[in-house]
Amino acid sequence: MTGACLADLGNAVICVDNDPAKIALLEAGSIPFYEPSLAEIVGRNVQARRLEFTRDTARAVRASEIVFIAVGTPMRDDGHTDLSAVRAVAREIGAALDAPKIVVSKSTVPVETGELISSIIRENARADHPVSVVSNPEFLREGSAVADFLKPDRIVIGTGDAESERVMRDLYAPLDAPVMVTDVRTSEMIKYVANALLATKISFINEIANICELIGVDVRDVGRGIGYDRRIGSQYLSPGIGYGGSCFPKDVRALEQLAVQYDYEAPLLHAIGQVNRRQIERTVLKFERELGGLKGRLIAVLGLAFKPNTDDIREAPAIGIIRRLLDRGARVRAHDPIANALAREVVAGEVEFAGDMYDAVNGADGILLATEWNEFRSLDFVRCAAMMRGDLVVDGRNIFDPEKVRLAGLRYVGVGRVRRAASGSDGREAGVARIRLA
Ligand code: UDX
Repeated sequence: MTGACLADLGNAVICVDNDPAKIALLEAGSIPFYEPSLAEIVGRNVQARRLEFTRDTARAVRASEIVFIAVGTPMRDDGHTDLSAVRAVAREIGAALDAPKIVVSKSTVPVETGELISSIIRENARADHPVSVVSNPEFLREGSAVADFLKPDRIVIGTGDAESERVMRDLYAPLDAPVMVTDVRTSEMIKYVANALLATKISFINEIANICELIGVDVRDVGRGIGYDRRIGSQYLSPGIGYGGSCFPKDVRALEQLAVQYDYEAPLLHAIGQVNRRQIERTVLKFERELGGLKGRLIAVLGLAFKPNTDDIREAPAIGIIRRLLDRGARVRAHDPIANALAREVVAGEVEFAGDMYDAVNGADGILLATEWNEFRSLDFVRCAAMMRGDLVVDGRNIFDPEKVRLAGLRYVGVGRVRRAASGSDGREAGVARIRLA
């Protein structure tokens, strides 16, 4: 992603990967995951000979002035970051070193990894070439990564070296974005803290949504009311079934682990993940309660990706909910516009996959809207009502108009939403008022 976009800015870029299948795919102009407009950028730049792909790290390192490390840093079972790919790549860079280099750490890595990369490169280098390790975190969102790259809110460059700063500023100059230069550790910390704060906003509004359900207040109005306050802002205040993806869950946990490592307990960071996990449980409880039990019930799950415009199902709340529904005896039929194939790999055999949203809904006792893909917004509830065995619609992302759902004769349950009160009603949505979690 970064490689293709940097090539698009006019740089010559060589991308290295150790998976030959991935390289073959990229060379043919396709990309191994779904990301809007990326395939087009890759194709254009391969054709212009600014972008190439190889497995040969040594050749790529020797040919380049700047070497980006953009490998995965998944979470280990203990919550710490798995740095094995970063270490392996640093060793390869060291072994290939034949001249002074700027090595940029793009991967999200714990504070102090910059120093680790430096020392691994030095240990593996045959000669004493100066290497400047720069931290340059990315703040791209999946599904809008190209747009985010081209229009960043800021560029953070972590370096104490004036020449590296100049080269990095030059590299990003075409984007005309605010640049902040810090030391390496601060830059590494900024990435984690940005993600943790965004996740905090989501968990915060989810907790408020849960309270709103109990007291009969519409959380969306509350969100709007606080969002106008410029100190708060309105983004990342959409309540739902929780955040997923390859960043928020892992980064919040890693930051907490970092604190613990320094003997600080970090209760707030701990609670962000806890609230997020409970949102999954709470959604299952809504089904259980509304359907009077889950055994033998058929639930149609619309959306599997952790958010729209991606096929990524890592830590997707939809998958967590499906697992729990199955555990409690429900049957699940699911549909995602593009993530069915990847989801099939993780819940193979247990879930039926439908070719479209109506196939999923056919004969269901209840529907869960788990990912707010645009095509689901136009769901025809009259058609659904005619096809369903039951009448429950749980809108996990608050995208449906409850009145439309009700007019079709179905029951609507959102997240923190209340029925626009008819007189005499306290406004609480039927069924969700008494759900409490231990
Ligand atoms: C995130 C950061 O936004 C990005 O800056 C960083 O580089 C990588 O991590 P990403 O994981 O791609 O990006 O997705 P994002 O759009 O931020 O959404 C993350 C999750 O939060 C999704 O599951 C989404 O559904 C959820 N979310 C987001 C909410 O539940 N409510 C919101 O208001 C916003």
